[in-house]
Parts: sequence; structure tokens; C-alpha cells
Amino acid sequence: MQRQIEAIEQFVRTQLAAEHSGHGFDHIQRVVTNARLIQQKESAGNLMTIILAAMLHDVIDEKIVPDVEQARQKVSAVLTDNGIEEDQQMAILDIIDHISFAKNINQHQTLSIEGQIVQDADRLDAIGAIGIGRAFMYGGAHNGVAYDPERQPRTELTKANYREPATVVNHFYEKLFKLAATMNTQAAREVAQARTDFMHQFINQYLAEWEGQR
Ligand code: ADP
Ligand code: NI
Repeated sequence: MQRQIEAIEQFVRTQLAAEHSGHGFDHIQRVVTNARLIQQKESAGNLMTIILAAMLHDVIDEKIVPDVEQARQKVSAVLTDNGIEEDQQMAILDIIDHISFAKNINQHQTLSIEGQIVQDADRLDAIGAIGIGRAFMYGGAHNGVAYDPERQPRTELTKANYREPATVVNHFYEKLFKLAATMNTQAAREVAQARTDFMHQFINQYLAEWEGQR
């Protein structure tokens, strides 16, 4: 199991080498760690499926690779080369296809328990101190604006408007503060609550400093 994990880890590292907007290999390592911890606390789901789906969850995505179909074939090939059977491959690919935030905006996707855990692990990495760091990195990478008091957060995110330019501070109101309520597992909900409290504290301080207070 360890040898298979290392081989697939090497593949992911290569695939994401050029990624600098918050989905680099460091994100993958944290999602795998989060997923392992949730799996342990919940005592649910197949651990190998969870680890492999967490590791591969960002390598078949149009925002990361130019050719999605080619990426899917590469993933399938690396799984086959490492002795992962067809039905486990299908379970892993099904998770990768359905967990992303963007795909769940208009239509809630039904997930296996393994998929629920990987989705929670991915969402935990978008909040808290790490989430704050990633949001500002994303804003920088996409020529965004950190904050503009004239711009109000959008009340509703849709698939169509999600990728439209937003300020980083508005992104907290539009998405990040709402993620805790979307966690599938109790284990992730508890961590998410603490991380969300921390983000509220950060934004309160940020807005106070903007006005020259504190
Ligand atoms: P997913 O991979 O689940 O679809 P995204 O690609 O939308 O997630 O998000 C990746 C990271 O970038 C997350 O930490 C997210 O909060 C952040 N992000 C996405 N959109 C914005 C934005 N408009 N401003 C700041 N950060 C953003
Ligand atoms: Ni991710």
C-alpha cells in the first residue's frame, strides 16, 4: 500500500509542478492529512480509496490541466500500473468528478462516504489560517483586488458568476464563511467551526485596521 501511494504521489507532484494559484502539491498533502484524520475519527470509508482520491482530486480539472480527457487517461493509467482494480478506480474517479465546489453550486452531487470525507478534507483547506493565505494567493494570481469598500458581496453564488472577479474580502462572505455549514461529517464540522471563528476574527481586525482603528 505504501509503495503504491508513493508512486502515485510522485505522479501528482509532476502534474502539479507548475501550479501556483492554491492547488499546488502542498495543498494535496494537507488534504490527504485532513482526509486521514477524518477517516480515523469517523471510522468510516475505505482508507486506500480516500487517500488516492484525495491525492488525485485536483489533477483532472479544467482550471489546472489544458486537456481534461488526456488527464483522466493518465490517471487511469497510473492507477492500473500500480495494481488498482477497475471498481476501485471507478470509485476514485467518481469522487474526483463530483466533489468540487463549482460543480456543487447549482446541483448537489450525491457522494459515497469516501467522497464525503475527501470533500470535507478539501473544504477544510479552504478555511482557517491556511484558507486566508490561499484566498490572498488566489487574488494575487488572478489580478484581483484585496478589498474595496464600495463593492458589496454577492448574495448568491451561481456557476455562471462564481469565476467572475470578486474582491478577496468579499470571497469570505460569499463562500468561505459558509463552508462550515456544508461539511458532511461531524469530525470535519468541529474543525470547520474553529477555523471559521478564526476567519471572522481576522476579517473583523482587517476591516478595523482599514478604518485606522486598533
Ligand atoms: P474547488 O477546487 O473546490 O473548485 P476553487 O478552485 O474555487 O475550489 O478554490 C481554490 C482556492 O481558491 C480556495 O481556497 C478558494 O477559496 C480560493 N478562491 C476561489 N475563488 C476565489 C476568489 N474569487 N477570491 C479569493 N480566493 C478564491
Ligand atoms: Ni482541492
